[in-house]
Amino acid sequence: MDKIIVEGGKRLSGTIPISGAKNAALTLIPCALLTEEPLTLRNLPRLADIDGFQHLMNQFGVTTAIQGNRPEDFGRVMTLETPRVTNTVAPYELVRKMRASILVLGPMLARMGEATVSLPGGCAIGNRPIDLHLKVLEALGADIELAQGYVKAVAPDGGLPGGDYDFPVVSVGATENALMAAVLCTGTSRLGNAAREPEIVDLCNLLVAMGAEIEGIGTSDLTIHGVRRLHGATYRVMADRIEAGSYACAAAITGGEVLLEGAKAEEMAATLHALRNIGVSCEAEKGGVRVAADGKLKAVNLSTAPYPALATDMQAQLMALLTVAEGTSVLTETIFENRYMHVPELARMGAHIETSGRTAIVHGVSGLTGAEVMATDLRASMSLVIAGLRAEGRTEVRRLYHLDRGYERLEEKLALVGAAVERVGDE
Ligand code: EPZ
Repeated sequence: MDKIIVEGGKRLSGTIPISGAKNAALTLIPCALLTEEPLTLRNLPRLADIDGFQHLMNQFGVTTAIQGNRPEDFGRVMTLETPRVTNTVAPYELVRKMRASILVLGPMLARMGEATVSLPGGCAIGNRPIDLHLKVLEALGADIELAQGYVKAVAPDGGLPGGDYDFPVVSVGATENALMAAVLCTGTSRLGNAAREPEIVDLCNLLVAMGAEIEGIGTSDLTIHGVRRLHGATYRVMADRIEAGSYACAAAITGGEVLLEGAKAEEMAATLHALRNIGVSCEAEKGGVRVAADGKLKAVNLSTAPYPALATDMQAQLMALLTVAEGTSVLTETIFENRYMHVPELARMGAHIETSGRTAIVHGVSGLTGAEVMATDLRASMSLVIAGLRAEGRTEVRRLYHLDRGYERLEEKLALVGAAVERVGDE
């Protein structure tokens, strides 16, 4: 297992190219199941989760070809073709490694009239049930059964009729599964309290490019008029707003100035609002978002919530920044029940944080010291890198496979803006 070594204290300055969004790519790729024609996705990030999803799609008989883009470029182009689906089962050994695999349930059901997917199980940040995925597919007319750790969804003869469903809780994944099933229903479907994240908009834009009819894109009320078939498309994945927010925190904690190339301010408004309140200047400009800090950071209170509120995926990174702000910050994590595993690791670097349930109280300290720390989940591992960029001395972040799930060539991007960061094989 690799580890990253960070020598803290370097002020970041320059331009960081932002990659395609992992959480958009993971719902755009399964759309290849919805048509026999080629689907070409551009700006796909080079990430372990994308490779994993490509492998899963191959199990169903989907051919995938990577083309274009020199190795030194960020991102790549993938063309997926599904003239015939040869298998409708997503097996445990693949799903357990990547819970986003559950996103094949809706499109496979829509294309084949049936789908069998291993239950994903929990993960480090929470038990992450999929009850809403199943309830909304039932509302669209599917028959759902659970047996031996698998969920099996079957459409009535003649295909899914469609239907209405009001989500009791906003769920990104369940909204995505519902959209990918509803587009091929024989009737019209309406989704209430649907997720509105930019990644959902990206999915709707791709589905429309493939011939789907969707109203209310970008709102929490979606109406989908089913169509008989969808055609292929070529589509560019949106920029990763969480990656951009993560590098904004990295620049800010070093008192640096960085242009987040390709980032869209309007997609990360809540993060930029939080950063401005902390004392970081954030300006949209042609080609990206410019972030600059002068080293003085102020404590703020933050609460995560569904879009357009502050993304839960930004909580750990902002907490790292707040460990060295002046004053005491109160963070509330309203989405996942166990998303503070970065706290004990940050404490080993000298941070002063108390947690109780979903609340974390961050008492700003004057500085951090480097330490050997352990990544526990994707965003927690990024928060440790961010702290390491500020800490005095050397920080070693282990179990990098967490980081590689969501950050394309992180050490190269940080080195572009002057960080002293190195990736080494672990003993
Ligand atoms: C997506 O996960 C993202 N993953 C997560 O990003 C992100 O944190 C999350 O949305 C919230 O924004 C991908 O897009 C691949 P949810 P998802 O369904 O869809 C509960 C990262 O770091 N819930 O919106 O699984 C659930 O337990 C990852 O990139 C149910 O109760 O999130 C949670 O408390 C981490 N029943 C809340 O809803 C369900 O059926 C939101 O979950 C589904 C969800």
